Amino acid sequence: MIYTPFENKNAIVTGASRGIGRGIALKLAGRGARVVVADVNLEAAQETAELCGNGAIAVSLNVAKPDAVRSTVADLIAELGRIDILVNNAGINRDAMLHKMSDEQWDSVLAVDLSGVFYMCREVGTHMRTNEYGRIVNVASASWMGNIGQTNYAAAKGGVVSLTRSISKELAFKNVTANAICPGFILTEMTRAIPEKIFNDQLAKIPLGRPGEPEDVANLVAFLASDDASYLTGEVINIGGGYKL
Ligand SMILES: NC(=O)c1ccc[n+]([C@@H]2O[C@H](COP(=O)([O-])OP(=O)(O)OC[C@H]3O[C@@H](n4cnc5c(N)ncnc54)[C@H](O)[C@@H]3O)[C@@H](O)[C@H]2O)c1
Repeated sequence: MIYTPFENKNAIVTGASRGIGRGIALKLAGRGARVVVADVNLEAAQETAELCGNGAIAVSLNVAKPDAVRSTVADLIAELGRIDILVNNAGINRDAMLHKMSDEQWDSVLAVDLSGVFYMCREVGTHMRTNEYGRIVNVASASWMGNIGQTNYAAAKGGVVSLTRSISKELAFKNVTANAICPGFILTEMTRAIPEKIFNDQLAKIPLGRPGEPEDVANLVAFLASDDASYLTGEVINIGGGYKL
């Protein structure tokens, strides 16, 4: 029997043109959702949407731009009728030690990784509040606990954790859940780009002995987005093969 918990559900996944976001989009679509692949890279987003099938659509969106988020979400609601699931996955890193971190490295990471999540939650969360149904999953990171060379990224992801806990309390009575997940070390273009020594150091910290795959993260997101997780909100869940900072 085919498992389709998301039949007749519409989902937005940001940053889904590749990596973890693509894995999440494929998983939700595979389980019946109509997925909106929202990404700055429209061409790659279209590729993800094609792979998803099931009526998936790609939209060009920079989550760090509040006006763009506002108009894109309004257009999507007009087109689809409702948004049931929001996965805030778009993120960037610009690692540097504190004494070398530029204003641009700080500002750009905070803009995408934290403000972007806020803008999306505000627009889509307000819609879900009216509908009295919604599942929000925010992709934070194990780094939110603090990590060398990641002052900007850790601060942004820590902000995502606090934001998620706050909105979970605000929206619970309207049947909207919000949870944060904290991936450890997952194989994507983001992690493939890091220097070999750091890559191997990270690998050595994983008790299960392998880096994660996007699908490992997608399995958790699919659970949190489903009605099996209807009694779970405001949680912060690690997904990293035991990896912790
Ligand atoms: N890979 C890991 O080990 C790891 C660990 C912890 C957390 N994360 C988090 O998981 C998420 C996905 O990471 P990934 O490894 O797949 O990264 P990735 O770099 O492979 O993919 C990120 C995606 O986000 C998109 N994006 C970037 N800026 C955007 C913006 N302003 N608006 C819309 N889309 C934008 C990119 O085009 C890309 O498709 C990120 O939030 C990241 O911080 C990743």
